[in-house]
Amino acid sequence: MASSVNADFPPGIGMTTTEAPFIEKAQADGKLYIEQPYELYSDENHEAWRRLYARMIPQWEKYANKHFLQGIENLCLNPKRVPLLDDVNQFLNPLTGFRAKPVSGYVPAFLFFDCLRQRDFPTTITVRKLANLDYLPEPDIFHDIAGHVPMHTDRAFADTLVRFGECARTAAIIAQEMPLGEDRVHRLSSIIKAMARFFWFTIEFGLMKHPDGGLRAYGSGLLSSYGELEYSLTSPDVQRYPVQLEWVVNQYFEIDHYQPLLFVVDSFDHLFSLVDELEVWMKDGRLSNVSPGEPAVNEADIASFLEAKIE
Ligand SMILES: [Fe+2]
Repeated sequence: MASSVNADFPPGIGMTTTEAPFIEKAQADGKLYIEQPYELYSDENHEAWRRLYARMIPQWEKYANKHFLQGIENLCLNPKRVPLLDDVNQFLNPLTGFRAKPVSGYVPAFLFFDCLRQRDFPTTITVRKLANLDYLPEPDIFHDIAGHVPMHTDRAFADTLVRFGECARTAAIIAQEMPLGEDRVHRLSSIIKAMARFFWFTIEFGLMKHPDGGLRAYGSGLLSSYGELEYSLTSPDVQRYPVQLEWVVNQYFEIDHYQPLLFVVDSFDHLFSLVDELEVWMKDGRLSNVSPGEPAVNEADIASFLEAKIE
């Protein structure tokens, strides 16, 4: 709750990426789903948000797809203050049923996708350092709220995320029905890797055809990056190809530099149909031995699928 007073921490102590005592305590206590202790944000946190938001506006107008721009309008974010998730949800929830749900850190793969199925979006609540606005390996509230959530106000996009969550359930059922042994872990790792690659090259870094014949970004990693948004659409060093499922699920990626390879969808209906196809491929075993390489799939990701309770 916004008004809650956190007795353990003084107001304004800061909710800065990798330097937030509130988050450290939540993680030490094993709490993944948390509240957003709004009074702990520092003046520096609000200033970081203000600068990040202000410099993105002209970039969004040039390079963001129209669904995102409509989403920014729909959310009525305050450009000068870190957003309160309850406020965001008041605008978001009536449109698509989605809600931003605060989390303390990494959400194991099945839990993350299953939240999407339930129209909850696990949301990071820390803010990157004011001195380092450009590069951040971890997500922060600017990436999650200004990069992802505007897209969640669009019905076709929101339905695609839900469909993706349903695919994760299908993956859990397939994995739980496999015989025990190393082969099961290998096949499940491969399916999770394929899903993560699909998510990366669409939801995080996707491009979409624009009616004027050019391209615009809908991927949240691009839409929250001041430098990479323009680079992704104008640099001759970026390869931009029509999306192909067989390529995407077998293509590794690295997170510590601008992406050299991006994929283009026609529309969100097109993206939705690709998720349908992904599930068919999963059932047919075509995702069970994809090309090795990034991203790594960790034990918590594997366990999250094998231990998922599917009713
Ligand atoms: Fe993201």
